[in-house]
Parts: sequence; structure tokens; C-alpha cells
Amino acid sequence: MSFFRPTIDSLSPYVPGLQPAAGVSVVKLNTNENPYPASPRALEALRQLDPQRLRCYPDPLADEFRQTVATVLNLDPSWVLVGNGSDDLLTMVVRAASGPDLPVVYPSPTYVLYRTLAEIQDAPVVAIPFDDQFSLPVDELINASGAVTFVANPNSPSGTKTENTQLARLADTVDGLLVIDEAYVAFADDDALALVAEHPNVIILRTLSKSHGLAGLRLGFAIAQPPIIAGLAKVKDSYNVDAVAAHVGAVALRDTVYTSEVVERIKNDRTQLATALQGLGCHVWPSQANFLLVRPPQADAKRVHQDLETRGVLVRYFDDPALATTLRITIGTSDQHAVLLDSLRTILGGDAAATTGNGP
Ligand SMILES: Cc1ncc(COP(=O)(O)O)c(C=O)c1O
Repeated sequence: MSFFRPTIDSLSPYVPGLQPAAGVSVVKLNTNENPYPASPRALEALRQLDPQRLRCYPDPLADEFRQTVATVLNLDPSWVLVGNGSDDLLTMVVRAASGPDLPVVYPSPTYVLYRTLAEIQDAPVVAIPFDDQFSLPVDELINASGAVTFVANPNSPSGTKTENTQLARLADTVDGLLVIDEAYVAFADDDALALVAEHPNVIILRTLSKSHGLAGLRLGFAIAQPPIIAGLAKVKDSYNVDAVAAHVGAVALRDTVYTSEVVERIKNDRTQLATALQGLGCHVWPSQANFLLVRPPQADAKRVHQDLETRGVLVRYFDDPALATTLRITIGTSDQHAVLLDSLRTILGGDAAATTGNGP
């Protein structure tokens, strides 16, 4: 006997990457966290937090943080909605705009949570396969007529990015909402923010989990035209963002100099790690995110993933036939990369590089 809807009984829940217990020492390159601490100013704000903020309910719209987003991005606050991580905003979008006759559409493989949220909502899911280069299948996405179309840009797990001209064509033609999930955009060459002003159906999502080193704080935001923001706000939890997150996040967002330094370091380390992995015979897709999608030589990714874990190096392996030969590796510190590369050299054997090229 079950107390739940049949949909929930048959649902395969979203499985986040492994989080080792506190104190366990591993090289953790599996969940795209930032290897560096958050802004020192934000950490100081956390230490100095006024206890009154905890006694009272927080502002329902996380006004301090919302205002800060508006100032930093030069927008009116009515174009911004704050979430408990961008996952919270994804939930609001699916809850507000999809349902049994209102399909959720996305290119695949991508962020697995899109499917889970659609299934919870009893919405049909249309997953359009990417080609091996991860070029966005724009026409197929349009033809699928989604009530909601998701494009993670840069995409996860590929790290690849679609040009704004393609996104604009999709926004112009698609029937429903187009959600451009920019969780990783700080590590990319450009962003799609300008599309919001031109398209009443576009929602941009951002997060402080990756570029700002605040995955544990849980803070993300949506940018869209005010009618969309107002509609999403109707379905959010009353106090979805806590007082600590709204305050500390605002300080972190204002510290643009620190964030840029960290992001530049990660982008440089991304280039170096990609070169080193190619030297070991891996195929590495061009990434504009803080991770690399990698196909190890002999394509035995599952075994490599397990062997790395045995050596205390966590990377991500996805249980998806389209990704069976690949690993997603988060950009860490140079010390973490040294351990990863040493382990890979041992696992792949000395002559791996000689037997494979860098072709997909
Ligand atoms: C594409 C994408 N969107 C959204 C998220 C969720 O981020 P947040 O920590 O803000 O909920 C992730 C997390 O890994 C992601 O990969």
C-alpha cells in the first residue's frame, strides 16, 4: 500500500553526486563546487551576523539580495526573483508552467533534475539528443512545442556553449517559456542576459554555488520580465530564502573583484588540465564551465571512475547510455589536479596516450 500518487511511487529520484562524510579526505572533483573559499568579505559578514536576523522571519522576496542583483546587473528589482539555489527556481518554473498536457523539453544529455521535476509534475518529457559535438538541436526543440524548454548554457555535463543567435532563434519561435540555465556562465566568454529584455518568454537562471563558492548557502536567482517574475513568485514557498543567505549572498555578489580573480584562476587551470588529459590520450570536449567532459582511452569510463574512487579521487560518472564512455571532472586546485593526473597515469597505464588520439 502506498500513500503517494502513482507518479511518485514510480519516480526515480534525482541522485546528487557523492558527498563524503565530514573529515574524510578525498580529492573531490564530482559536483562542480568551487575549490576556493567564498569572498572574505562574505565570510566576515557571516561571522558578524546580527542574531536579530535569525529571530525574525526573513523578507519573503529576499529583498537585500534582490536589490543587490538588480544593482550589480543594472536591472529593476521587479525583474529578479531569488531562490534557495537555482534548483528552487527550476522547481517554481516547472510547478507554474508545466503539467499533464504541458510538456517539458530539453536537449539531452543535460542537467538530470529537469526530468525529475517534470515527472513529479506529471508533465510529458521530450528529450532531444545532442550530437557528439553537443550542438543545440534548435529546430527539433522548436518542433517539440514545450510549455517549458530548458537549455543549460554552458551545458552540463558537456561544458559546451551555444551562441546567443541560436538561443534568440529558439526564444523567437518556441511556444512556451525558454529557461536559459546559466549556472556556469561566469566561466564562459559571454552570457545571454540581453535576451531577457527582447523576449517576454525568456528566463535566465544564475547561482552562487559555482562562481561564488557558496553551494552550501543555497542561493540562486531568476531574471525575466516582471509578469514572469510575478507568476513564479506565486508558487514559491513563503520564506524560500533564509535571512543568512540573503545577507551573506549580497555581500558576496558585491565583491566582484574577488569573484573575477577566482574565476580567472579556474579558467586558467581548466586549460592546463584539458591539455594534460589530452596528453594522457583522453578526448576532452571544449568547455566554458568549471568542469570538463572527458572520454578516457579505451572508453572504459566506469572502470576508471571506480579506480579513481578507490584512490580517493571523486569524479562524476553518469548512468546514461549517451555518457557511458565519459567522465565529468570538476576543475579543482593545481594540487588536486596533480593527484588526479598521477592516479590516471597509473590507471590508464604508461602507453595509453600512444594508442588513442583526441578524436571523439
Ligand atoms: C545546470 C545546472 N543548473 C542548476 C544547478 C543547481 O544549482 P544550485 O546549487 O544553484 O541549486 C546545477 C547544479 O549542479 C546545474 O548543474
